[in-house]
Amino acid sequence: MIAETMTATLAGTTPLLAGRTVILTGAGGGIGRAIAHALAAAGARVALTDLRQEPLDALAGQLADGQILARAIDASDPAAFAAFHDETAAALGPVDGLVNCAGTFEKRAFDELDAAAWARSLTANLLTTVAGCQAVLPGMIARGCGAVVNVASTAGEYGSISPASHYAAAKGGVIGLTKSLAREAAPAQVRVNAVSPGPVETDGLLAVTPEQKAIAGSRTLFGRLGQPEEIAGACIFLLCPLSTFVTGHVLRVNGGALL
Ligand SMILES: NC(=O)c1ccc[n+]([C@@H]2O[C@H](COP(=O)([O-])OP(=O)(O)OC[C@H]3O[C@@H](n4cnc5c(N)ncnc54)[C@H](O)[C@@H]3O)[C@@H](O)[C@H]2O)c1
Repeated sequence: MIAETMTATLAGTTPLLAGRTVILTGAGGGIGRAIAHALAAAGARVALTDLRQEPLDALAGQLADGQILARAIDASDPAAFAAFHDETAAALGPVDGLVNCAGTFEKRAFDELDAAAWARSLTANLLTTVAGCQAVLPGMIARGCGAVVNVASTAGEYGSISPASHYAAAKGGVIGLTKSLAREAAPAQVRVNAVSPGPVETDGLLAVTPEQKAIAGSRTLFGRLGQPEEIAGACIFLLCPLSTFVTGHVLRVNGGALL
């Protein structure tokens, strides 16, 4: 069965995520929008969420074919996420996939980080991922299938190059969470992986001028910034039948920035 599904997927007989329902957080951001387009192109039914409804509605309009749900929630709120999961399942069918892409990056030296800054970073980067996993994993485990992709960062693997220890700690937490949940969910054939982007050309990178972008891009072996679509491609791989033996993995999509 695995071999047949993989052959059909490679042959393009069926779209990579045909018939799957996938929840995406941070859908209104630079990488999130690219993932939303990729999910729809791969044939998934997509449930989009972010903090504000307006950008989600605009994005849903670009993807429209009746298989899209867009609802603003604070993804760090477990009750709100659970309700969004239930709404998604009712509208689009049982949830087969989750991409936790919500996050925030703020440059600040350790001695300037107060409790509020720590709370902001841990909430946006780690607790959104926790709430998403709490909402979807019980159903996936009960049905014996499903895949979760958590968006980490090179900062979580190697420490942050710009001063942002609160961000690095939160993303390191995402990686530890990913590997632990991969162990707990594997008996049910549910997979939990992470994508770890290097510098990607979005507003979230906080590199605004051409000089700032060039410096960030120069840290990769290709000498350029990554594009959001290049992160989206890795997410699709980790959700689709081509990666059924991959779990607990941190897929580096960083242009060789850190080997
Ligand atoms: N751009 C990069 O260079 C880069 C590098 C490594 C990792 N990442 C990670 O990739 C992900 C996307 O980054 P991006 O560059 O697209 O940033 P972005 O700022 O464009 O998008 C992040 C989105 O997350 C949303 N969000 C934040 N907190 C939320 C919450 N509590 N509930 C719901 N939504 C929330 C924001 O509203 C925003 O739309 C983030 O997790 C980021 O840490 C980005």
